[in-house]
Amino acid sequence: MSVQNAMTADFLRSAYGGESMAHMRYLIWADVADKEKMPNIGRLFRAIAYAEYAHADNHFTVLKEQHGDFTVPAGAIFGIGNTVENLQGGIDGELHEIEQMYPVYLETARYQKEKAAERAFHFALEAEKVHATLFKKAQDVAKEGKDLDIGTVHVCSICGHTTTDGLPDVCPICGAKSQAYKAFE
Ligand SMILES: [Fe+2]
Ligand SMILES: [Fe+2]
Repeated sequence: MSVQNAMTADFLRSAYGGESMAHMRYLIWADVADKEKMPNIGRLFRAIAYAEYAHADNHFTVLKEQHGDFTVPAGAIFGIGNTVENLQGGIDGELHEIEQMYPVYLETARYQKEKAAERAFHFALEAEKVHATLFKKAQDVAKEGKDLDIGTVHVCSICGHTTTDGLPDVCPICGAKSQAYKAFE
């Protein structure tokens, strides 16, 4: 079903822009972590970049019938620092999404009875909470000049749920089966 309301459509486009840029930014910062001999933090950045891709994909798909050319304003963090600084950029970006952006977008979609947008915003909001926590953990270790001690990172391709605690049977956010998870090892 296509999006009926202009404000929800604007928010979907902006969220698509923000997630797209987060995806690229995390891949760039992953390379920095690798160069600093923190390959597990690099892998965490790549796994979370994939989760942001899943969010961008969801937002873009909800808008699939809104064809055309749009100028898209979207928030994005810029700069390449060391890994501790880049992780702070990650934390700041995720917290903006958790505390400001997605709660407002989600309430708007709910108010406008845009079910598909509501689902996409809900998935992103819940996944970003986990991302903020994982980036904080990584930063605590990186501040001591160490790499993160993690095994496989699993990312749900439907909602972007990200975990270092093993492959879930069922995604706690979207309910997808374990086959929906992509492994970063
Ligand atoms: Fe995120
Ligand atoms: Fe999921």
